[in-house]
Amino acid sequence: MATEMAGRRVVVTGGAGFIGVHSVEALHAAGADVLVIDDLRHASYRPLPGKARLEATDVAGPAARAAVESWRPHAILHLAAQGGVNRSWREPAADAHINVLGTVNILAAAIAAGCRRVVVASSGGALYGAATRLPTPEDEPAQPRSPYGTAKLSIEHYLGHFTRAGMLDALALRYGNVYGPGQDGTGEAGVVAISSHRLLDGKAPVVRGDGAQTRDFTYVGDIVAANLLGLASDIVGAVNIGTGRETAIGDLVRRLCELAGFHGAPEREPLPSGEVARSALDNSRAAERLGWAPAVSLADGLARTLESFRAQVR
Ligand SMILES: NC(=O)c1ccc[n+]([C@@H]2O[C@H](COP(=O)([O-])OP(=O)(O)OC[C@H]3O[C@@H](n4cnc5c(N)ncnc54)[C@H](O)[C@@H]3O)[C@@H](O)[C@H]2O)c1
Repeated sequence: MATEMAGRRVVVTGGAGFIGVHSVEALHAAGADVLVIDDLRHASYRPLPGKARLEATDVAGPAARAAVESWRPHAILHLAAQGGVNRSWREPAADAHINVLGTVNILAAAIAAGCRRVVVASSGGALYGAATRLPTPEDEPAQPRSPYGTAKLSIEHYLGHFTRAGMLDALALRYGNVYGPGQDGTGEAGVVAISSHRLLDGKAPVVRGDGAQTRDFTYVGDIVAANLLGLASDIVGAVNIGTGRETAIGDLVRRLCELAGFHGAPEREPLPSGEVARSALDNSRAAERLGWAPAVSLADGLARTLESFRAQVR
């Protein structure tokens, strides 16, 4: 990996966010020169590495396009997004502005800059909806159940279009539910971070519905490894990045309670509309085409995550 990325100029949009900061750190470790484009509206509490350049601007605006065009990157990792499924219901136009128009803006900039390699964060959980097969392979028809998932599907159509037109070699990585150190625990999304923060504050975690809904929890370090493999490869299309395992939210919260030494019962909230019932991503294409496999077990990943949050509040 170090050989493929050494000396390469890489733009990371959303590079100040949760997955972004981890990705920038890994790209630096691999010898890449990184330009972050992020307006910092939802930056992680983990700081950007000092040597990363930052263009603090909206990905949907002209300054982002100009930054890409003048820097002439070898590759772009596009992570900037409005990531809240509930928020996408409340503000679908704002969601589409960032997630669809912001992406198209970055793709147009890549083309203008002569940068063919673009890797974009998509979402397996949000795209497949009520999947008929679990773990779900990439050829499952997409049936998003939220404006956020619909935006991710639209983005994938743009990637396919520009790739077929011979202008880009674009890859969508359909992540599972990503968790790990650096995730925001104060918002509406990210059950591991939110539950961990509540537990460390001495509060009961909250479970929506009966907690039987399942997700494919994937550790951020594994996601970053997939990002770097994607940037270094020339494969196009869509690839799932998940563990292939379903974990019920109720079980996940129980594990976190055990790790935190909390013996009370979780609080209950109604299930929001559009909530996906079951999700797990078939990762065989990632193994075949990218040589990727998850390396961090859920037990290990949760322990590392809780420990990092504990160190943060100390
Ligand atoms: N975290 C997950 O579980 C998960 C799952 C599937 C897909 N994804 C996708 O992965 C990507 C990264 O997610 P994350 O969890 O790191 O999110 P995050 O919110 O922590 O990071 C997103 C970053 O993008 C920036 N940003 C948002 N809107 C912007 C704009 N208009 N202009 C410039 N910067 C902007 C934010 O400031 C933030 O730093 C997103 O595309 C998200 O949809 C995440």
